[in-house]
Amino acid sequence: MAKLPIVTIGDPVLQTRAQEVPRITKKIAKLIDDMIETMYEADGIGLAAPQVGVGQRIIVADLGEGPVVLVNPVIQSAQGEEIDVEGCLSIPERWVYVKRAAEVEVSGLNEKGKQVRLKAEGYFARALQHEIDHLDGILMLDRSLGEATPEELDDAGEEGE
Ligand code: NI
Repeated sequence: MAKLPIVTIGDPVLQTRAQEVPRITKKIAKLIDDMIETMYEADGIGLAAPQVGVGQRIIVADLGEGPVVLVNPVIQSAQGEEIDVEGCLSIPERWVYVKRAAEVEVSGLNEKGKQVRLKAEGYFARALQHEIDHLDGILMLDRSLGEATPEELDDAGEEGE
């Protein structure tokens, strides 16, 4: 695995809709491994491929229960609303309040190309929505309800997404 450079705000890849992944090739599998490594190295809880300069629909996340990989993720259902603080590895030193669905059900492919469907709530649901937004060229600042301080981050201690 290799750590990849993280693209920061201002780079057009972050505001471009990413492409569907037709199949999990060796190259894609390597990219997924590298994205996980990069997320851990950066102390992040989530990362989307555009954040490493790759315009493909891949996200990874880990909220303390091991890495979750979703290729071509689609939000199948969403319920409730929650406002909480987010950070983003591509927008250093900024934290903002964002309203997200409280619970989501997301489908996609896992790193082996198998179709999966998972339910998430709380900060995991938030992280998935944040990462899927990246695939559509949407940043947390586009949804910001106001600036926050790092102390206002959720008590789970999230660093960035
Ligand atoms: Ni982000």
